[in-house]
Amino acid sequence: MSHDVLGNALIDYYKQPKDQTLITFSSVAEKDSMPVSYFFRTFDEMPSLEQKALELCSGNILDVGLAAGCHALYLQNKGFKVTGIDISKGATNVAQQRGVRHVIKGDVLNTLLDEKFDTVLVLMNGTGICGKLSNLANFLLKLAELLNSGGQILIDSSDIIYMYEDENGEHWIDASQAYYGEVAFTMSYQNQTSETFDWLYVDYNTLQRCAIYNGLQCELIQEGEHYDYLAKITKD
Ligand SMILES: C[S@@+](CC[C@H](N)C(=O)[O-])C[C@H]1O[C@@H](n2cnc3c(N)ncnc32)[C@H](O)[C@@H]1O
Repeated sequence: MSHDVLGNALIDYYKQPKDQTLITFSSVAEKDSMPVSYFFRTFDEMPSLEQKALELCSGNILDVGLAAGCHALYLQNKGFKVTGIDISKGATNVAQQRGVRHVIKGDVLNTLLDEKFDTVLVLMNGTGICGKLSNLANFLLKLAELLNSGGQILIDSSDIIYMYEDENGEHWIDASQAYYGEVAFTMSYQNQTSETFDWLYVDYNTLQRCAIYNGLQCELIQEGEHYDYLAKITKD
């Protein structure tokens, strides 16, 4: 049975903030845990890549996968018009209750939006949403369709090549297998477990190649401290 595991965790934390924890299981790492409070981070608590992305935002903004709305709320408080979209009912409820004025519950890939945006923001490993490398081109093109002329997509990701590194610093990747950044995740919260979902981490060169091959431009804005980066994609 499928649960809105993230949404339920966000609702619980919003109602009564404690040490609620999400547990993740993935095809590349051991069991991991993550405090739900992370989704409620303030600007000062955000990684510098996210702060940079927020500083670059302009015009009418779409926050894709807004979750609890930490980025949307910051931008709205700065006076921007922000629309947030998320596939999770619990997430959209929490974002609305926290004050995000324009929230849509839906899948960004097949929800018809009746306006265009100057900035499309996709943060916290934004490329994850497309799941597999084979979906990346369609995902970028769909986001690009949502842009006004001169608009930008600000998206972050990580090159998880470090997960395949041995003690000599060499990387072991089986070229006959799928792209190394394709990860299968399951998420648990209390007694609920999600279905397994695909999540794509993509290295910058692959993202850039995919963007350019599909008629878009791609610029590396900033690299983070641990193989992560922020990119800007434009179409004009
Ligand atoms: C890693 S979380 C990032 C949340 C938020 N951007 C942040 O930085 O705190 C990814 C979010 O994307 C949402 N999501 C996943 N697939 C989606 C889709 N196809 N369309 C819209 N939202 C999606 C999830 O429900 C989740 O809230």
